[in-house]
Amino acid sequence: MRTPIVAGNWKMNKTVEQARVLVAELVPGLQAISGVEKVLCPPFTAVMPISAMLTGTGIGLGAQNLHWESSGAFTGEVSPAMVKEFCQYVILGHSERRAYFGETDETVNRRLKAALAVGLTPIVCVGETLAEYEAGVTADVVIRQIVAGLKDLTEEQGRVIVIAYEPVWAIGTGRASTAPAANQVIADMIRLALAGIFGKETAQLIRVQYGGSVTAANAVEFFSQPDIDGALVGGASLKPADFLQIVQAAAR
Ligand code: PGA
Repeated sequence: MRTPIVAGNWKMNKTVEQARVLVAELVPGLQAISGVEKVLCPPFTAVMPISAMLTGTGIGLGAQNLHWESSGAFTGEVSPAMVKEFCQYVILGHSERRAYFGETDETVNRRLKAALAVGLTPIVCVGETLAEYEAGVTADVVIRQIVAGLKDLTEEQGRVIVIAYEPVWAIGTGRASTAPAANQVIADMIRLALAGIFGKETAQLIRVQYGGSVTAANAVEFFSQPDIDGALVGGASLKPADFLQIVQAAAR
């Protein structure tokens, strides 16, 4: 009922020249896979050239952030309309932005509303840190991030968004969560919080990805879980063969 979605988060990697090489390697393989939504999220500098390469391929393009204001004196920022010129998706509230760049639930909420207003599909990241995980407060953290991050959204907007559950301790560490544990957080905490906001029916329609050390080897296990609808992939999205295997594993 929910179409799985796999997005590659390239983070701060790839010059335009390198990005072109990676996309050229990915496109034929990605085009051959159906039954899954495919998204590439290069750094801003590569967004425009890559958008030209993806036109007509059925592969989506996403940015890794945006600012909530529509224009003005915000040196270094990129507006929702600027992103929308080339992209269909945007990653919001990634844990690296929360940890290093002062992102809060409140700023995630502003960016989210601004992204929705221009017609982008936001991928909203939530997840607990290692300290929070060890303290046993995962539920408090992810429910707070969902409730505050999605504040004031309409049910109609709720249907559009994608959530990425990414335990911070699993990102870039090679220490992925186990598939059943990730599924439990998504089913019992995230979907429950979504149901509280939008109602049960809508909560069942919203796609929730897992992210954090997803590899070609463990992807099948994650995607066999009933509440995991694809993945947000960092490191492995820079390796064409691995990323293609992950996308293939998600196809329904
Ligand atoms: P990773 O990153 O796959 O390298 O762990 C995931 C992410 O940060 O989205």
